[in-house]
Amino acid sequence: MEAALTARDRVGIQDFVLLDAHTSETAFLDNLRKRFHENLIYTYIGTLLVSVNPYKELDIYSKKQMDTYMGVNFFELPPHIYALADNVFRTMQSEFNNHFILISGESGAGKTEASKKILQFYAVSCPSTKVLDNVRDRLLLSNPVLEAFGNAKTLKNDNSSRFGKYMDIQFDHQGGAVGGHILSYLLEKSRVVHQNHGERNFHIFYQLVEGGEEDLLRWLGLERNCQLYRYLVQGDCAKVSSISDKSDWRMLRKALAVIEFSESDVEDLFSIIASVLHLGNIRFEADGRGYACTSGHKETHWVSKLLGIPTQVLLQGLTHRKIEAKAEEVLSPFSVDHAVYARDALAKAIYGRTFSWLVGKINESLVNKDSSRKTVIGLLDIYGFEVFSVNSFEQFCINYCNEKLQQLFIQLTLKSEQEEYEMEGIEWEPVPYFNNKIICDLVEEKHRGIIALLDEECLLPGEATDLTFLEKMEEKICGHPHFVTSVTHYCCGRQTHRDKNYLKKTLCPIPCSHKLADQKTRKTLERGDFRLLHYAGEVTYCVVGFLDKNNDLLYRNGKEVMRQSKNAIVKHCFPATEPHSKRRPETVVTQFKNSLVGLTEILMSKEPWYVRCIKPNESKQPGRFDDVLVRHQVKYLGLMEHLRVRRAGFAYRRKYEIFLQRYKPLCPDTWPNWRGSAAEGVQRLIKHLGYKRDEYKMGRTKIFIRHPRTLFATEDAFQVCKHKLATRIQAKYKGYRVKEEYAKQKEAATKIENCWRGLLARKEREKRAWAVKVIKKFIKGFITRNQPSCVDNSEYLAYVRQNYLTRLAENLPKTVLEKDHWLTAPPIMQEASQLLKKLYTRLMVRKYVRGISPQRKAQLLLKAQTSTMFKCKKENYPFSVCRPFADTRIWSLLFHQGAEDINTKVLQIMQHEQVKYSVPVVKYDRNGFRPRLRQLIFTLEAAYLVEEAKIKQRMDYGSLRGVSVSNLSDNFLILHVSCDDIKQKGDLVLQCDYLFEALTKLCVIANKQNYIKVVQGSVRFDIQPGREGFVDFKSGQESIVYRAKNGHLMVESTRAKSR
Ligand SMILES: Nc1ncnc2c1ncn2[C@@H]1O[C@H](COP(=O)(O)OP(=O)(O)OP(=O)(O)O)[C@@H](O)[C@H]1O
Ligand SMILES: [Mg+2]
Repeated sequence: MEAALTARDRVGIQDFVLLDAHTSETAFLDNLRKRFHENLIYTYIGTLLVSVNPYKELDIYSKKQMDTYMGVNFFELPPHIYALADNVFRTMQSEFNNHFILISGESGAGKTEASKKILQFYAVSCPSTKVLDNVRDRLLLSNPVLEAFGNAKTLKNDNSSRFGKYMDIQFDHQGGAVGGHILSYLLEKSRVVHQNHGERNFHIFYQLVEGGEEDLLRWLGLERNCQLYRYLVQGDCAKVSSISDKSDWRMLRKALAVIEFSESDVEDLFSIIASVLHLGNIRFEADGRGYACTSGHKETHWVSKLLGIPTQVLLQGLTHRKIEAKAEEVLSPFSVDHAVYARDALAKAIYGRTFSWLVGKINESLVNKDSSRKTVIGLLDIYGFEVFSVNSFEQFCINYCNEKLQQLFIQLTLKSEQEEYEMEGIEWEPVPYFNNKIICDLVEEKHRGIIALLDEECLLPGEATDLTFLEKMEEKICGHPHFVTSVTHYCCGRQTHRDKNYLKKTLCPIPCSHKLADQKTRKTLERGDFRLLHYAGEVTYCVVGFLDKNNDLLYRNGKEVMRQSKNAIVKHCFPATEPHSKRRPETVVTQFKNSLVGLTEILMSKEPWYVRCIKPNESKQPGRFDDVLVRHQVKYLGLMEHLRVRRAGFAYRRKYEIFLQRYKPLCPDTWPNWRGSAAEGVQRLIKHLGYKRDEYKMGRTKIFIRHPRTLFATEDAFQVCKHKLATRIQAKYKGYRVKEEYAKQKEAATKIENCWRGLLARKEREKRAWAVKVIKKFIKGFITRNQPSCVDNSEYLAYVRQNYLTRLAENLPKTVLEKDHWLTAPPIMQEASQLLKKLYTRLMVRKYVRGISPQRKAQLLLKAQTSTMFKCKKENYPFSVCRPFADTRIWSLLFHQGAEDINTKVLQIMQHEQVKYSVPVVKYDRNGFRPRLRQLIFTLEAAYLVEEAKIKQRMDYGSLRGVSVSNLSDNFLILHVSCDDIKQKGDLVLQCDYLFEALTKLCVIANKQNYIKVVQGSVRFDIQPGREGFVDFKSGQESIVYRAKNGHLMVESTRAKSR
């Protein structure tokens, strides 16, 4: 409850004890309504559970919900029937004592459902073994059997229990359900023969007719049509949409099997049910004398067959009764009315007794033969107060039963309250309450109570009627303040009364909801009515039928007939000794009274728990809360009374430990932990909270708080504090989680790191090992590198080869000229290297050759020719190699506007001869050796020496004998011409800067390969034919040309530096 105190604004208060206006019925109703509309059908009054029928399936009965409520403190979760069931169970377990749960309420309020929920809870929560499961199944399945035979559709409830039921569940010391016992109370037998409009007979009849197997029906002489049976159609509603007789029948068969009904038991049982139906169809007609006789023998035949009674005996039993006349027994025939009455009485008796047998049979199957001590939880599902527009004998009994239970409740509650106070050492403050003993006495007092008067009237020989019974009551108890009839004249305190002392004696001690009847209400009574002012309110009863129902007369004859039955159940129900008993059987009301006394004794020895069921509307609709109807039930269930008792002293009490545990955050001294005793802690806490002296009391183990407001103030403070604490706890928790997470991550990181490092180290080690191996091998290979290829050096050599080839590839000569720039090969690669070098040189050459243009090629050919002519012969030749040859050194005017060109006149003269090459030269006179600038021109036919526009000398290549050059580094050439030609002037001594070029061209153009002669020292030449001259060559300091004293031309040239 504490857990949900906070929700009180939204969904009301979970415990009425904490209702501030606890005496206000309206406040009570408001709270109930508020919660009902939120689908919160359960509310506590202390440990009493108020349950409002939701008339719809709520998702609060699942296995999960059961688990939630198992073993949890009563007040920690929202109110629930499971909480109550669990608490009863745990209290029983811990205190090893007996308990009962009294479930009461109007018809249709949900009593039976509540008891089933409790049973289901135990079925799930109690320990389970094969044997225990068997008992559990029987306990659970006893319900459908009893419901089939004891429940019926009424106007108020489609599955109304027409009997009171008390079921004991026995538990062993470990909490296992080991057995059970059922007591039934006051089955409404009259329903067998009569149903009001809109109501049905007991379910079993319809289940058998609708669901019974074909064979079975044939055997029982029944047809599958309810309309054919008079006992089934009086209410005119044999079929109901909310009831499935067929599936209920299947369930019943299964249940009977589990409860171990034998084949013959089942046969006998259904024979009885069928014979009741056949009985109902027996009709009587008056014979000539007005006596009853049966018409149609079909039904009697079936009854006699099914019950195993000779037909004649049966017929006689139905139409005659036995009268004792002096020592003789005489048969007296019935009138038709009497016969009908006797038939119905027989039907009721058979059914009623069979029901008792059924209960006994179920009990046999639930019995626990183990003699070890057991504890018990009793479930009492009993009719609550019934108030109809017309109330009869049944309502009288039922309401009397409720008075008794209320009395018990007051006794037990007050007793337990008193005991608790005593135990806690708190002074008992007397509680003002209405003690309904006065009403119980009115009903059950010996000789003067209503029951006594009724029995007296029933036993009276002669013409006692319901009215004489009423008159008797008027005569004997007319002065009672809780009894009213239309003719009673008394005044309630204010009016005069015949027996003032009686009145004084019996007046209510406290002002309560009970208004005693005044003149006005009395006037509303019909003649034949009497009214009782019950603790819960007033109920008017109609006396009609009281005597009859109380007598429940089954003519002796009828019993005798039944005694002859061969049906085992009937035989058991009508024992042989009974018909001969001269003693008059106990009346129904006395039997009922006695059974109530027995029940009271049973209950008194147990700890009580209560479930009060409320019906929210008459139309069985979900979500509808009829204020008037609920108010009525609140009153009749005595809930306000209960609350008053519970609130008489202190509204709230709780064990110190629990109270301290919840509220300790409100005081710095008790938070977070209190070291002393819980009581001291609570004392410190409430001192801090400022409780006033009269607001609370400290018991031995509990704190008692007088008003709910005190608790609510504490609770509100706690809620405020809780949020702050929650934030702190949250922060702490988050911190803790983060730290934990961090630690986890760190650990994980370290682990990963370790693994990673390990992996790396392993790799490193492997690498090193590999490296060592490789190095060793390398060294070995190196050492043995010069040996023939073997295991030791093969890899090394391969490496050397590869290495050399790689390096070689990177360092190949770039041009042909660098061909000597070749990487030195290791010994094993010498041969390959040479081959490669050759190949590569070839490749370069080829590339080079393919890459050069035709012009260049031509030039290179010329150069090659030059080389053959002068290489290693003339000193300055090497210097000429790098100077490219030109096509010509003097350009014709046509193409070139340079300073040096060939004069056009010369060209005109040469006309048909194409100039192939021309070069400026210095000509030395043959006489005197004076230098003159001239041009030397080669055509295809001849060489010309030209001085500007004049051709000084033409030399046919045919007349050209040769050309002499020195081996030194001068540029002199001497053209030797044939001296036979008179026109020729003699040899020419020339100096030409392009000596090699000019001479090579000349050789090519003139196609004379051996023209050139390289000489040493001096060259002889012809100045004129027959006159010779000399040119001497020598090396000197500088290049000079002069005429030597010997008349020779001296050409001195510097020595060429070697390149
Ligand atoms: N907790 C519940 N949840 C859903 N429906 C319920 C609940 N309690 C009762 N009901 C509905 O109300 C109907 C009547 O309930 P139930 O038979 O328990 O009433 P009762 O108090 O035993 O009546 P009677 O005195 O006539 O036997 C049920 O058949 C069911 O439809
Ligand atoms: Mg019921």
